[in-house]
Amino acid sequence: MNTLNRVLIFGATSAIAEQTARQLVAQGASLYCVGRNRDKLMAIIGDLRARASSQQYIDGCVADLTDSAQHPNLIDAADHQLGGIDGVLIAHGTLPDQKACQADTSLTRQEIEANALSVINLLTLLANRFEQQQRGVIAVISSVAGDRGRQSNYIYGAAKGMVTLFLQGLRNRLAKANVNIVTIKPGFVDTPMTAAFDKGGPLWTAPEHIAKGIIKAMEHGKDEVYLPWFWWGIMLIIKHIPERIFKRMSL
Ligand SMILES: NC(=O)c1ccc[n+]([C@@H]2O[C@H](COP(=O)([O-])OP(=O)(O)OC[C@H]3O[C@@H](n4cnc5c(N)ncnc54)[C@H](OP(=O)(O)O)[C@@H]3O)[C@@H](O)[C@H]2O)c1
Repeated sequence: MNTLNRVLIFGATSAIAEQTARQLVAQGASLYCVGRNRDKLMAIIGDLRARASSQQYIDGCVADLTDSAQHPNLIDAADHQLGGIDGVLIAHGTLPDQKACQADTSLTRQEIEANALSVINLLTLLANRFEQQQRGVIAVISSVAGDRGRQSNYIYGAAKGMVTLFLQGLRNRLAKANVNIVTIKPGFVDTPMTAAFDKGGPLWTAPEHIAKGIIKAMEHGKDEVYLPWFWWGIMLIIKHIPERIFKRMSL
């Protein structure tokens, strides 16, 4: 069982990350929160401090995570301020406009940078540090979209799929170093990212519920979790549809 006393959160302004942070604070954790939007981040840090005890350290800093040159300093700052890191959650991401990406290669590259390369850069630095300390847990929010490419969102899916595969390799490498690598695969979650979607219905979940699943998976050192669990079954079916049939479907 991993203890999550000192946690570093990337993409802390995400609705899922914010709910995870609240639940971690309620459990007594200290947090270092990295987010891009200054006003939103400061409001979240203020709210978390109001929920924390005087023994808990809650702070963070503003950063655009596609600026990979900043990554080493962000990790060092968190390590220094928290006095060590037990767990990391990487939550940032963007939902690309698929049609716009199809017409613009630079936009496609930006989306791959935001959703995959920035995450891989952070993971490479964190993995080396955690391998040395021989303990800890690193969780990343990937997506069910990374399990199979679909015409409606294959730029996002390809980026998340890259992260999922990278995490599989990292998990394999770090298993002997006592470091847990957790892949979080949510389905449809009601957050600002999905604001343009028609919500409602049994497949939609609140971010609080996903947050609970993330913490449980990190504490128990799970490998890959679908949240909610029933997405495991849905994606099992989707992954097994033969390609000659799948390519004619509109999903
Ligand atoms: N919602 C879903 O249905 C769903 C499903 C599966 C997976 N996910 C994944 O869950 C994670 C959290 O998303 P969410 O649903 O909570 O949506 P959200 O509230 O829109 O959060 C996305 C966050 O990513 C941050 N971000 C984007 N690019 C960034 C950058 N370059 N540097 C720093 N931060 C950046 C955004 O910051 P700003 O506030 O500055 O824009 C925003 O806070 C994402 O990885 C997403 O892909 C979501």
